Amino acid sequence: MAKAAGKKPQEVAQAVAVAWTETGLAPAPSVAGPGFLNFTVSANALAARAQSIADDARAGAALVDQKRRVVVDYGGPNVAKGMHVGHLRASIIGESVKRIYRFRGDEVWGDAHFGDWGFQMGLVISALEDEIGGFADQTKLDARLVTLTLDQLEAIYPAYAKRVKEGDTELRDRARKATAALQGGSALHRKIWAAMHDVSMAAQKRDFAALGVKFDLWLGESDADPLIPDMVKDLDAKGLLEDDQGARIVRVAGPGERKKKKLDDGSVVEVESPDPLLVVSSEGSAMYGTTDLATIMQRVRDQNPDLILYVVDQRQADHFEQVYRAAAKAGYIAREALEHVGFGTMNGPDGTPFKTRAGGVLKLNDLIGQAEEKARERLKESKVDANFSPAEFEGIAHKVAIAAIKFADLSNFRGTSYVFDLDRFMSFEGKTGPYLLYQAVRMKSILRKAEEQSAEIGPIAIEHEAERALTLALDAFDQALTLAYDKKAPHFIAEHAYALAQAFSGFFANCPILQSEGAVRASRLALAAATLKQLTLTLDLLGIDVPERM
Ligand code: ARG
Repeated sequence: MAKAAGKKPQEVAQAVAVAWTETGLAPAPSVAGPGFLNFTVSANALAARAQSIADDARAGAALVDQKRRVVVDYGGPNVAKGMHVGHLRASIIGESVKRIYRFRGDEVWGDAHFGDWGFQMGLVISALEDEIGGFADQTKLDARLVTLTLDQLEAIYPAYAKRVKEGDTELRDRARKATAALQGGSALHRKIWAAMHDVSMAAQKRDFAALGVKFDLWLGESDADPLIPDMVKDLDAKGLLEDDQGARIVRVAGPGERKKKKLDDGSVVEVESPDPLLVVSSEGSAMYGTTDLATIMQRVRDQNPDLILYVVDQRQADHFEQVYRAAAKAGYIAREALEHVGFGTMNGPDGTPFKTRAGGVLKLNDLIGQAEEKARERLKESKVDANFSPAEFEGIAHKVAIAAIKFADLSNFRGTSYVFDLDRFMSFEGKTGPYLLYQAVRMKSILRKAEEQSAEIGPIAIEHEAERALTLALDAFDQALTLAYDKKAPHFIAEHAYALAQAFSGFFANCPILQSEGAVRASRLALAAATLKQLTLTLDLLGIDVPERM
C-alpha cells in the first residue's frame, strides 16, 4: 500500500488507525515499528466467541463446505507377519486422519487393507509343506491347520524370508509357485490360506482394539482378487500392457522422465522413472501393485470415493506413484483423487528403525504391554492407585499408556522420524499424552464439584488476562482443524491440544473457579466446561480416550 500511495509504511498505518471505526470486535489499533498495526480484541467480542464455543456441540469447529466421499487406507498389517511396530504409525496416524475427515463432515471409510495375497503367503505355505512332509496326507494337514497359531506363523515367516533373501532360489521358486497356485484357485492352497488368514485376523483384531483403532472395512488384498482377470483384460484392450521378459507391465514414466540406475556389475545406466508397474509376474501371479490397482477399481465400484488417502510409510512412495499413474492412465480414477500420506519411521535410540534388544521386530501387543507397565509405575508414584479398585486402576493405566504412545507419535509432523522413548512419553509434565489427560481430568473434577454444589454455569464474561488467553486458544481450534485436514497432518491437532491445556493451566493458576462467587464463578465454570468439551473432542481426533478420574 505504501508503495502504491508513495508514502512511508508508518504513515499508511497511522492513516488506517485514525480511519478505523469501532467495530465491536476491536477498538482502534496502535501503530508499532515500521508500520505494524496491533489490534486488541475487545472483551465483549472475546466473551461472545467463548460463549458461542460453549454453546456449540462442535466447540467452534466448522464443517467443510463441500462434503466428500473419502476412503482412508491405513494400518495395512500382513497375514502371517503379525502386527509389529512398523504398523504402529500407520495405524495411529491413519486413525487420526480418518477421525479428522469425518469430524469435518466428509463421509469416510477406514479400510485396513490386509496384506494377504502376496508372496509371503506362498512362502508360509511352503514352510508348512516342509514341516509336515508334503500335503499328500489330507488328514495330517487338517490336523495341523487346526492347531496353527499366530506365534508359529510369526516364527516361520522371518526364518523363511531370510533364506530367500540369502539366495535360496529353490525355496523362492517353490514359494512363487505356491503363490501362483493360491491365486489360481487351488482348493488345497486356499484351504491353507484360509486357516492362516483367520488366525492372523483374530490376533490383529485384538491388537487394533487394544490400540483404539476401528476400521469400517476389514478388507484385504485378496478381496480385490476377483477383479483382477477383467482388469488385466481391460489394460490389455487399452494397449497399456507390455511384455517384459515373460512378465506383463504398465509403463508409467512420461517422456524424458529418467533416472540413473546402478547395475550389479557397478555400471550406471539411464532408465525410465518411475519404474513400470508390474501387473502379472512371469509365474502369472498378481503382485503388490496389481492388488492395489484392482482395489482402486473395487473402491470406485463400492464407495465411489472423491479421494483415497493411503497412510503408509514414506518408503513406499515410489510404489504408490506407479499405482496412481497406472490407475489414471487406465481411466479408473483421476490422479488427484489419490494421495499418499507418507510418514517417517519410529526409531530406536541408535537412530535406525525400532527393534527389540534381541534385534527382532517388537510386537505391537508387547509394546502396549510395556507401556501399560510403565503407566502403572508412574501412577503408583503419584499415589493414584490408592483411590481406585484394581479393575479401575487397570482401565486408567491402559488409557494413560495409549495416550502416551499416540500423543508422542502424533505430536511430530508425520514426515519426521522420531525416537521411541517410553520414559519421556510417559511423563506427567511437558508435551505428553499423560499431561493432557491429567489436565482434562482436572477439569472434570472441578465440574463435578460444581455440580455437587449446584453451582450456576455461564454466561461468560472476559476480564482477566488469563481468560483472554484461554479464549484465544479456544478460538484457534477451527484453524488447527482446517490445517490438519488440508495437510493430512494430525500434529496440528496435537499442538492445539497442548496449547489449550497450557492456556487452561494459566487460567486455573490465576483465576480461582470454585473459590470465586456469583457471576464470576458462573462465567469461569462455563469457560472450564467449554475447554473440557473442546479438549475432549481434540483428543478424540487423535484417538485418545480420557478417563473419568485419575
Ligand atoms: N501391507 C503393506 C505393508 O505392510 C501396507 C499396505 C498399505 N496399503 C496399500 N494399499 N498398499 O507394507
